[in-house]
Amino acid sequence: MLDIQSTQTYQERIRRTLISEEEIAAAVQNAGKEISLLYDGTPILLVSILKGAFVFMADLMRAVDVPCEVAFMCAKSYYSGTFSTGTVKITMDLEQDISGYHVVIVEDIIDTGRTLYDVYNLLKGRNPRSLRVVTLLDKPSRRDARVAQSGFKPDMSLFTIDDLFVVGYGLDCAEYYRNLPYIAEYSPSQEG
Ligand code: IMP
Ligand code: MG
Repeated sequence: MLDIQSTQTYQERIRRTLISEEEIAAAVQNAGKEISLLYDGTPILLVSILKGAFVFMADLMRAVDVPCEVAFMCAKSYYSGTFSTGTVKITMDLEQDISGYHVVIVEDIIDTGRTLYDVYNLLKGRNPRSLRVVTLLDKPSRRDARVAQSGFKPDMSLFTIDDLFVVGYGLDCAEYYRNLPYIAEYSPSQEG
């Protein structure tokens, strides 16, 4: 838990706006149009990975005009070493059998890519009719070697960012800042 002494300290830790509300809204509308064109009236299942992706999911689903169901899952990956194989722990699973669905995984950010790589393979094993990944943010410079070697990549990425820690629009630091309407660079060094 953050030691939030005051609202001022809380605000001071936000170094700068990286992506504005307007930029996010425009990119989400474009992504919604792209998805609608891609599936061309075919029903889809949007699967959001909690908690970070719930804000993006809420906006993206309203920018899509194909018949659409939504579902949520919660996943955590644990690693015992840099080159170890990841084991994903599903702390909340999907309710439905996805074998009849065209599934789109909706993620907030791909950093090392380990979590999503594991979730992707897990869902792939459940034989969906198709499986794609849409991420709001991608930090390709941080990708884990094993994930990179596998050729795993998101099908759609709204913003590629540098190796920065970001908060807002669903993304947190110790559970805070998810409610910022924009994406900001977080700076713990600014604390006073
Ligand atoms: P991974 O390293 O790609 O497995 O990322 C796992 C999770 O770490 C993401 O889904 C986010 O919840 C979190 N994460 C990674 N980078 C950031 C960041 O810059 N800000 C907030 N959360 C992050
Ligand atoms: Mg996440």
